[in-house]
Amino acid sequence: MKGLARLIFPLILVLICEVNGQRRKPGRKRATPPPFEPVEPTELPPPLPPGPPSVFPDCPRECFCPPDFPSAIYCDSRNLRKVPIFPPRAHYIYLQNNFIDELPEESFKNATELRWINLDNNRIAKVNKKVLDRLESLMFLYMEKNHLREVPNNLPPNLEQLRLSRNRISKIPGGVFNNLNHLILLDLHHNELNDGNFNKNTFKGLKNLMQLNLAHNRLHKMPPSVPNAIHQLFLDENQIEDIPNNYFKDFPNLAFIRLNYNKLSDKGLPKNSFNLTNLLVLHLAYNNLTNIPYINSRLEHLYLNNNSIEKINGTQICPNSMVAFHDPSSDFENVPRLRYLRLDGNHLKPPIPLDLMMCFRLLQSVVF
Ligand SMILES: *[C@@H]1O[C@H](CO)[C@@H](O)[C@H](O)[C@H]1NC(C)=O
Ligand SMILES: *[C@@H]1O[C@H](CO)[C@@H](O)[C@H](O)[C@H]1NC(C)=O
Ligand SMILES: *[C@@H]1O[C@H](CO)[C@@H](O)[C@H](O)[C@H]1NC(C)=O
Ligand SMILES: *[C@@H]1O[C@H](CO)[C@@H](O)[C@H](O)[C@H]1NC(C)=O
Ligand SMILES: *[C@@H]1O[C@H](CO)[C@@H](O)[C@H](O)[C@H]1NC(C)=O
Repeated sequence: MKGLARLIFPLILVLICEVNGQRRKPGRKRATPPPFEPVEPTELPPPLPPGPPSVFPDCPRECFCPPDFPSAIYCDSRNLRKVPIFPPRAHYIYLQNNFIDELPEESFKNATELRWINLDNNRIAKVNKKVLDRLESLMFLYMEKNHLREVPNNLPPNLEQLRLSRNRISKIPGGVFNNLNHLILLDLHHNELNDGNFNKNTFKGLKNLMQLNLAHNRLHKMPPSVPNAIHQLFLDENQIEDIPNNYFKDFPNLAFIRLNYNKLSDKGLPKNSFNLTNLLVLHLAYNNLTNIPYINSRLEHLYLNNNSIEKINGTQICPNSMVAFHDPSSDFENVPRLRYLRLDGNHLKPPIPLDLMMCFRLLQSVVF
């Protein structure tokens, strides 16, 4: 039961998560309104949190320690340039929106039970090797919007979510991910990664990875290898021109693919690329496709807006056409599931072809 919960909980978490990453806090929210967030560090010392002194004598002076949530320490948006020293009871630490540029070893030395650190929106350029690997319980590390140029080394082995988007990462040190077999989410979107950063072994070891976000980088090719358990793959806003034959063949769980804003054309897209049994959502908007690729009958959402599509043959693209066209009443199980279709921004003229509507009988919305 515990094993099951461990699997299902993060799945739900990943699924309800917005693509570009929203932060959620465990338990209750802080009681005070978010303080003023300076744009540049000021000369003033960090403001003391409002209200009486903390009930916890070990609460770092710069931070807020909610009395009813002893495992959480809030030091976010406080004009901090240095990381305070955290007591052992700290499990959840919020340090986002400050001006921190390094992570000293002593800050986390006694906080060996840390599960969650949010360092989003700081100025960290490098992470000392010895800081992270001791944090055996760390599950969530958020370092979005910092100045990192490479993926930090010595990541702790029980990490489940690693968010490094909006940095300047152009280097992935060899083997950094190899021991992270609990990692579920890896977010590297909006960095400076190119094709040379990826080889067959880059993601080796990520046996449980469900979401990989490489959107808004500088890729011209698909990464040579992506973890097989993956459920969601985001590659929007790159320069990808083609998808190798059978690229997705060995991904039994792949349900969401986003490839909006790339350079895909029919030539670079083997017709059966996306005819994948478990695919539910496919984004191919803002590419240069002239034909609709084959899809599987379980696909529910298809985005093909702003391509160069000129005509549609509903019969040709109809998955399971035998069932779809010839068996209107029975066997509802096998009717193609497509519910939402975007075709606007192409070279199509109304009306919507009748064979398209006859095939996809569950369509609720077509944007044409
Ligand atoms: C860590 O805990 C030990 C023992 O409680 C204490 O002596 C030491 O000062 C603490 N270290 C830091 C950096 O707070
Ligand atoms: C799509 O895949 C299914 C199952 O592998 C296969 O039966 C079907 O022929 C494929 N569709 C096309 C148009 O190739
Ligand atoms: C799209 O493809 C056509 C040829 O199929 C080419 O002439 C055109 O330049 C391409 N457009 C873009 C934006 O790549
Ligand atoms: C659509 O494709 C089917 C099957 O390939 C073909 O029989 C039919 O003539 C095509 N329809 C049009 C309008 O091109
Ligand atoms: C996408 O298509 C829509 C609908 O035709 C159009 O209004 C829009 O300008 C297009 N966007 C781009 C970036 O081409």
